[in-house]
Amino acid sequence: MTIDIENGNLRILITGGAGFIGGCLIRRLLDESNAKVFNLDKISYASDLSIIQESPNHDRHFLIKVDLNDFEKTSLAIKESDPDIVFHLAAESHVDRSIENAEPFLKSNIIGTFNLLESTRIHWENLSPSRKERFRFLHVSTDEVFGSLGPKGKFSENTPYDPRSPYSATKAGSDHLCNAWLHTFNLPIIRTNCSNNYGPYQYPEKLIPIIIIKALNQSTIPIYGDGTNIRDWLFVEDHIDALILAMKKGEIGANYCIGGNNEKTNLEIAEFICNFLDQKFPLNSPYSKLIKFVKDRPGHDKRYAIDSSLIMLQLGWKAKNSFEEGLKKTIEWYLKNISWHESIQMRSGYKGERIGLSKNAKK
Ligand SMILES: NC(=O)c1ccc[n+]([C@@H]2O[C@H](COP(=O)([O-])OP(=O)(O)OC[C@H]3O[C@@H](n4cnc5c(N)ncnc54)[C@H](O)[C@@H]3O)[C@@H](O)[C@H]2O)c1
Repeated sequence: MTIDIENGNLRILITGGAGFIGGCLIRRLLDESNAKVFNLDKISYASDLSIIQESPNHDRHFLIKVDLNDFEKTSLAIKESDPDIVFHLAAESHVDRSIENAEPFLKSNIIGTFNLLESTRIHWENLSPSRKERFRFLHVSTDEVFGSLGPKGKFSENTPYDPRSPYSATKAGSDHLCNAWLHTFNLPIIRTNCSNNYGPYQYPEKLIPIIIIKALNQSTIPIYGDGTNIRDWLFVEDHIDALILAMKKGEIGANYCIGGNNEKTNLEIAEFICNFLDQKFPLNSPYSKLIKFVKDRPGHDKRYAIDSSLIMLQLGWKAKNSFEEGLKKTIEWYLKNISWHESIQMRSGYKGERIGLSKNAKK
């Protein structure tokens, strides 16, 4: 069965829609469908609604400010939004913060996912037969649940779980809960595990925005360890394509790995951004002189890479943006939107300082 997202007059619930990926997903759904879009988000330091408010169709967006950690309020939000489909993205998402304090990660990612699954199960069981058949719950997760790779090989749907940070352990927990609600209660769940995303509107604590902003301010660009840790980078719009496709055509019970096939070291990313800025706004010395190697992240995973064959072959997904195109678009966006990241930093009180060097964490 294909879900008609574009013309189905659906009621779509997104959790975490005030975050980076959720906001981009909502913007696309508002622009490309006639759906009513309900955005359940607790509105944290990482939240921002600008991308949604800029949509000409933002009158079809409804913010429901609720913390998933609260079961009663989550259940009420589900009743009020009465969704046909759910995309679950809400999570505490920054590894460094999870090293500093893991508790909010357990509360949001594990208890929050449990509260959402339970409320959704009750809602789904009471739907009419036709709505019940069409209902889908898509859980958005990360490749970090698979742990760390050596120099060879890629993660796939068959890779055993081996999470190593408090963040990835709680995401793994949420994946297992989804699997349990699928098998035990038949809730029609599809899961995705994606590699590192980048793009406009990403909160300036993640690697790419932090490098751009530090370089623009001519401050030191901190690179953890020796800069050789590898991530598989995917432009956020390509991730959104995959999520919409998985919701429309994905097999219930399937798990799709999504990656950009763009393995880059952290140092390569910093050098790309510095070279781009050298051409755009030359200084007396190259921006790369600002790069400084700093103490490594405790338990820093060495390499992530994704084999996306299943979603490519089964659903016909393919990333449209090359790494160079995606990163250029992203840098250009941050250059044009300096007031956006300044106001985000002002509002959240985070000014780019180092976090996640817990004294007790493994060295
Ligand atoms: N960013 C990436 O590179 C990446 C890669 C793969 C998977 N993911 C997953 O995608 C999802 C979205 O990531 P993101 O980068 O947009 O994160 P983000 O931190 O930018 O946004 C997360 C949003 O979730 C909300 N939230 C957190 N806890 C909540 C709770 N208890 N109740 C209600 N709302 C809550 C926050 O307020 C925020 O608006 C996450 O589940 C993440 O694990 C992210």
